[in-house]
Order: sequence, then C-alpha cells, then structure tokens
Amino acid sequence: MSAIRGKKKNISSWRLFDLNSLLSAFLAFCTLGLAGRVQTTRDDVRRFPDGFLFGTATASYQVEGGWDEDGKSENIWDYLTHTSPCTISDCSNGDIADDSYHLYKRDVEMMRELGLDFYRFSMSWSRLLPTGFPDQINEGGVNYYNNLINEMLKYNIQPMITLYHWDLPQRLQELGGWANPHVVDWFGDYARVAFEQFGDRVKYWMTINEPREVCDEGYGDVNLAPLLDSKGIGEYMCVKNLLVAHARAYHIYNDEYKSKYGGEVGIAFSARWYEPASDSEIDIQAAEDFTAFTWIKYVHPIYSETGDYPPIMKEKVAAKSAEQGFFRSRLPEFTQEEIEYVRGSSDFFGLNHYTTFLVYRNESIYDANPVPSLFDDADIGSYHHPDWEETASSWFKVVPWGFYKLLTSIRENYNNPPIFITENGFSNRGGLQDDDRVRFYRNYLSAMLDAMDEGSDVRAYAAWSLMDNFEWLSGYTERFGLYEVDYDCPERTRTPRKSAFVYKEIVRTRALDLDYEPDTDVMTIDEGH
Ligand code: NOJ
Repeated sequence: MSAIRGKKKNISSWRLFDLNSLLSAFLAFCTLGLAGRVQTTRDDVRRFPDGFLFGTATASYQVEGGWDEDGKSENIWDYLTHTSPCTISDCSNGDIADDSYHLYKRDVEMMRELGLDFYRFSMSWSRLLPTGFPDQINEGGVNYYNNLINEMLKYNIQPMITLYHWDLPQRLQELGGWANPHVVDWFGDYARVAFEQFGDRVKYWMTINEPREVCDEGYGDVNLAPLLDSKGIGEYMCVKNLLVAHARAYHIYNDEYKSKYGGEVGIAFSARWYEPASDSEIDIQAAEDFTAFTWIKYVHPIYSETGDYPPIMKEKVAAKSAEQGFFRSRLPEFTQEEIEYVRGSSDFFGLNHYTTFLVYRNESIYDANPVPSLFDDADIGSYHHPDWEETASSWFKVVPWGFYKLLTSIRENYNNPPIFITENGFSNRGGLQDDDRVRFYRNYLSAMLDAMDEGSDVRAYAAWSLMDNFEWLSGYTERFGLYEVDYDCPERTRTPRKSAFVYKEIVRTRALDLDYEPDTDVMTIDEGH
C-alpha cells in the first residue's frame, strides 16, 4: 500500500529530481520490458511435488461481518469505518461484509468444491476477547471459531489461523496499540487463549499478517487503520514491539503447547521484489536499502544468524536521527536478550507476495519525501514500469518474474527456509469470466515452480482470496475472489469465477496445465471432499 503513497510522491519527484535519477529511470525503461528478464512460462504440464499443500486465504474483518454480534467489541476498523465512513473509497464497511459469521458452512462447501488441503483465516481479537484482555473470554467468539474449525475438519481441510490480521481491539489502540511496549504481554495473552481453546485441532498458526503493512502503512502513514501518520517515529516503535510480541506468541506455543499438540507457528511477511531501476551500482544499492527498510527489517531479526535489524538500516536511521537533532536513533534498539528471543522464532516463512517495483537512489535536495520518514531515511524512490499489466489496485502491477527473483533471494540469503505462500492473487473490478486472473495465477505459479526447480523449499500455496471481500480503504471496489460475492443481495450469494474452476483443476491434478479450458457450467464436489 505504500506504493499508493510512493507513487504519488514519485509523480511529484519526477518533475524535480536530478539528472542522475532521470538517466537511471530512462535506462530502466529501455532495459526492462514487458516480460522482464526471466522466462517464466512453459508449454508443458508442470507438476507440484508430492505433499505440496493448496489452500485459499481470507481475514476476519474482510469477510466475517457480525461486527457487534454475540459479545464482540469494536476494533480499529469498526471504529474507523463508523467514525469516518468515506475514508473508504465507496464509503462502505465490514459490518456485514461476506457475512461469513453466518455463512461459514457455505464457505466450507466452497473449500470442498475447490478440493483444498487447507484454509487460511484469521481470528478477530475483539470477538474472542472483547476487553482486549483475557479477563473475559467471549463464548460467542469461541463457538463461532469452533464451528468453523470443526466444519472444516469434518472434510479434512486443515485450518491455518492468523492471530492478527489488522483488527486490533479499539480499547487497546487507545492505549497506544503496537506503539506501546505492553502490547507484547497483551498479544501473548491473546495468543495463549487461542492456543488453549483451539490448539488441539489447529496445527498451523501465524502470529501476525504483514508486519510491514501494520507498522509502515498504519502507524507511519494513512493507508490503513489507525491512520496514525507518525512517520519515522511511531512506525519504528511499532516494528520493534511487533517483533517482540510475535516472538512472545511463538515461545508460548513452543514452550507450553508444542509437545502436546505438535503444531507449527510462523509469521506472514509481505514482500515485494525491488528491482534496481538501472544497472548502476547506485541503484543496485538503492534497491537493497529499500528491501532492508521495508521487509528485511522484519525478516532479518528472525531469520539471520546474527539477529537484529539489517545493519544498513540501523546505520542510516542513527545517522539521520543525529543530523536531525534527536538524542538517540528513532529506531528503538533491541536489547541483547531481545535479539536472542526474536532470532529463530518461526517454524516456517509465511510469504504474501503480489508485485514488483523499480527502485532508484533519490538524495536530491528536491526530494519530496517528508523528514523524518522511512523514505527519507532510505533515500530512495520507486515506481512501476508503465508497460507492466495493471490490476484494479493502484499499488499492484503484474510482474511474475519478480516472484521468481524474490523466492530465489530468500533461498540464497536466509538458508533456504521452508516457505508457505500465505497469499498471492489478483484484483479486478469483478465479473465471472476472469481470464486476467487465470493468466495471473498461471504465470505466478510458473514463476514459483521455476524457483522450486532451483531448490526453493516452497511447501504450500494460498490463493488470495477464496472470495471477494472488504479490501480495506478500497472497500468493495477491488475484487480478489475466486468466487464472486453479490453485495446487492442479503444472502451474499457466492458464484465461482472461471479462475475457481482453473484453480480446482490445479489442485485436483497437482499440476499446472497452461492449456486447460474449464467447463464452467456447474461446480461440483469431488469424492473425498
Ligand atoms: C494483503 C492483505 O493481507 C490482505 O488483507 C489484502 O486484502 C490483500 N493483500 C490484497 O491487498
């Protein structure tokens, strides 16, 4: 989502920035064409390895509705959409959304139609713990998640639960949310309640969805609730607290539940591929810096051998902070104990991936980035190549080869961890004949298989999303679903798109056949599901 921001900035900086940047950008236009640098499509049928898992993903606020039912309290998205409705582009909200709170059986039926191995969904903190704390465990919330989990397990579909997908209880936000170090205890307590209630049946847990979006877009900008816009300060406080809170939940499971239940706990990073805008050393370094400042700052503390933030980020923020008159770095440091606590705190590498950007160095005095800010700390600018295929989302253009490069770099830099693709999908404006989405899945899955052929240890893939849902500040204007949802009818009817039939065939055959043309008349449930 920072792309929305980055893009706007880039438009203004396009007019102003210095000659070097202009030259870099021009070179990029010449060197990076439509298809990019990596061949990602092949004509033959390609198979997925034995044991590979297929799923789809959603998140509580985006699909559940039932916003104040059976004891649920207000969260930051309820608060934002109710107090400032037209911050959302169609002035909508998630009060009803897909009504999965009531229609969960139909959701599970769709999972069966697709033949899924797992379904990734998130738990609403304010539904389970209305005060935010474990003093009141809401029976209505426990029942809802028990019903959903049990319904899935009846058909052998594994639940994969995200504890936090952006819907903090509003009361906790009023206490500072992720900028308050006490969030480590709050989140740990919430996680313990969830493990206690559902851990006997749930074997895959994710602590936090997309830390970058939580902190950089919600605390450092106005692209997600709580729209704090605390650039270069609040966003960095959030980063540290979020990582320690994640580690707290991981250790609680590892120490108290793992031997009993044998499950796994990971985290779902969001990562874009940042391609240097030119072959110059300067832009190559700029792309590395931007990578460090955006998603490696979450990955390095957990996955590197040394732990802690990437050194380049620590150095840059410390230097800029001193120049700007701060008495200490705006990036709060970890203690040695915290470094050890966070390092290694993940059983699998959850990866949400959508798009790629071209990155250039931007130290121009006409730099449009605010001071202080992450963009100013990193001294970079970024943009999309104009030839790349568009989606309905302004931050998102289609670049399959970026997925290949991203997976390769994770393999090479972080010792080939087991990866779960926890999200990947395409947005358009709706319609059942979604050939654009079909093409997207085929090309991105091909790119993923390219990386796997070279050794990347990808074990699972979740399409975003099972069905259309509330797309945050874009409301219902951007559609990501394999199933279309009719928001004009109270039943929220779900209808499979062409991409649902194609995905079903991929899951059924465990193979990618680029020539497969589905018969889209009837969606059936195959035997065994
Ligand atoms: C990432 C988020 O996790 C999800 O909530 C969102 O809908 C998709 N990307 C698409 O933007």
